[in-house]
Formats: sequence, structure tokens, C-alpha cells
Amino acid sequence: MKRDLVAIQGLSDAALVGLMDLADTLQRDLRAHARELGGFLMGSLFLEPSTRTRLSFEAAMARLGGRIITSADPATSSAVKGETLSDTVRIVGSYVDLVVLRHPAAGAARWAARHASGPVINAGDGAHEHPTQTLCDLYALRRERGRLEGLTVMLYGDLRYGRTTHSLARALVRMGCSIIAVAEDDLELPDFIVSDLVRRPGCVARHIVVDDMEDVFHRRDVRAMAIGPDNMVPSGGESVDEARPFSLKDSAVDAIYVTRLQAERGAGASRALPILDHRFLTSQPFKETIVLHPLPRVTEIAAEIDSDPRAAYFRQAALGVPIRMALLMWASGVYDLPLETAPLYEPESVSGYRCENLSCITRHRTEDVPEEVARSRGDVPRCQWCEEEAGPA
Ligand code: NCD
Repeated sequence: MKRDLVAIQGLSDAALVGLMDLADTLQRDLRAHARELGGFLMGSLFLEPSTRTRLSFEAAMARLGGRIITSADPATSSAVKGETLSDTVRIVGSYVDLVVLRHPAAGAARWAARHASGPVINAGDGAHEHPTQTLCDLYALRRERGRLEGLTVMLYGDLRYGRTTHSLARALVRMGCSIIAVAEDDLELPDFIVSDLVRRPGCVARHIVVDDMEDVFHRRDVRAMAIGPDNMVPSGGESVDEARPFSLKDSAVDAIYVTRLQAERGAGASRALPILDHRFLTSQPFKETIVLHPLPRVTEIAAEIDSDPRAAYFRQAALGVPIRMALLMWASGVYDLPLETAPLYEPESVSGYRCENLSCITRHRTEDVPEEVARSRGDVPRCQWCEEEAGPA
């Protein structure tokens, strides 16, 4: 079977740990592995802007002795002439051994993986998933904190349109962390993520009112949801109206993961997220908290905390190279990982539904994705590509 990575569920828990362990070995001397992927060729196909993801993938491949071809400017790719993604990846896939794809449509990587002969790695598909950023985030968290099991991670910012938090929330819960998701009401974690998380045995999601929110975030119009193992998550309500009070002072927040407002995806360009600054980090609940961010940051983290030892985002970004080296070694077939044979959640096909998400690959102007787009996993029918709720056809 070809080793695609289209979503974080494609890697078992043991595989996630295996990649981090391999990255630890590689990281000790990044120059010592130049023979691992000699003769391999990677195609970077970036149909959306990127700096870190593309360059860290390319650095990773080069460090392993492989070579790279790149299409990094959507304006100069044949997509502007109306070529379908399926044709593009079929061709690029025939030139190279594996394709790293970034695309503005949700579900694009899964669709592309159907058409490429070799592995496709999702480097971000619309507002859906960004599994390799999650590998970097988990790895950074593990290195900073020395473990993952039992950690409490606050996700803060644009959790609706930011794809990194979608993959990360899934991985954190699987690694035994609990999450406090804090966002304005239209920027909360989407239902396709929350409903997926609570399907795990023993995992709950509860609405809470953070009592000291105003002291900490200097605003009251943000909502909080606690997600994780039942015994680690504060008591709260089933719905927003039933949310129960909770004080952050009673809980140790091990890390805060901040994201920028995804203005290009409809999060509203004219608003700004509150700034995480020195005053924030000196408030009691965050005295021991490390700060992570997938970057790029815009205004949501003040530069004044860059020199604070708890500001871990630059160290986090640097780890993108060793963890992607590990991933490339697996995807190229030179390193094996323990993979579960059964998927985490068995999808069940249902007909008569159509995806209504205008940003889904099924609605992309060039694509002709098959009619039957819905799957059910015991809840509402969902699009099998972008996972958003589907409506009647
Ligand atoms: C993220 C992305 O592209 O989703 N960037 C990245 O890959 N490091 C986050 C973002 O753009 O906000």
C-alpha cells in the first residue's frame, strides 16, 4: 500500500510516537543522514502560500540526500489554465517518488492521493487538516515538556478556519492530553472535529465559563470548551447555555497553542485577536506555560515575549525539519512504522447527500468529484473529503 498522509488519523498512536523517536535520533546531527534517501525525488506542489512548510519539507529531503522539484507559485501553475488537480497530481506523481501538496480546498489531499501513483502528503488542505504541522507541534510539545500523556493544552485563536488546530486536537486527545479550546463564538472548533473527538471511549467535551477569562484575556466574549479524558476535564455543561464556571487558577496549563485569524478563509479581516503579551504570561495560570504557534504570527503574539524562555514557537518551527525527515523516510518506504490495520473510525457510505461546504474539493471549479460524497460515522452524514455535515442531494 502506498504511504499517503492525508489526515492525522492515517498514523496510528504508535506511529506518531515512532516518528518522534526517529526525529530525536535524526535531530542529534542533521548532517549525518545524507545517504538515507539518495536517488529519491520529491515534488512540492504548493497551490497556496507557504514558507515554513515547504522549505522545511525541502530542507528535510535535501538533508536526507534526496532531490526536489517545486511548483510554489499558484499563479504560474497550470491550475490557472483550468487543469484539474487530479490531472496535475497524476502527471507530477509520474515525475517524482512522492508529492507534497498544499491546496486551498478542504479534502484536496485525499482526492489527490487517489490519482497519484506514489504517496501524497497533505501540507494543508483548506480549513480541513494539516497533519505534518501536527507532527511538528506534538514533537515540540514532547521535547519542551518531556512527555505528552496527562498534559493540558489550551488552544486559542481561530479554531474554526485554522487547520492546524483540527489535526492537533485529534492527536492531542489520542496522546492522552486534555484540551481547553478558547475562541470567539464563530471561531470555535468545528463540529466535525469535536464530534470526532468525543467518539473516542472515555473522551468528553464540556462547555465551561472561565471565571478569570477577563483577567487573563481582558475580554469576556470568548467561549471555552474542555475536551479530554473524563477524569481530567473540569465539570461543565452539555451546551453553551449549561456551561459551568471554572477558574484557570485551579488548573495547570502546560502549553498554550495560539493561532492567527485566517482572514483569507472567511474569518473576517477587519477584526483582531487579543494579543498575548508579557502581562498575559505573568498572570498566575500561565506562569509555567509554554507558548506554541504554527506561525506565521501576525499580531496575536507580541514580539516582547520572544526572548522569554517560555516562548517556544521558534524552537517549534526548527523541529519541522527533523520530524519531516522522519516522515519522508517512512513515506519513501525506507523506514517502517507500526500502523493499525483498521482505521480509527470505520466510515460507512450513505447516498442521497451532497456536501454543502463551498470550500470543499467537491465544489472546486476544476474538479469532477464523484456524486456519492457522504459518509456517516454513527452521527450526521458527512462529506468524505472535507468531513463537514452534508445536506440532502
Ligand atoms: C499554518 C497553515 O498554513 O495552516 N502555517 C504553517 O503551515 N506553519 C498556519 C497559518 O497559516 O496560520
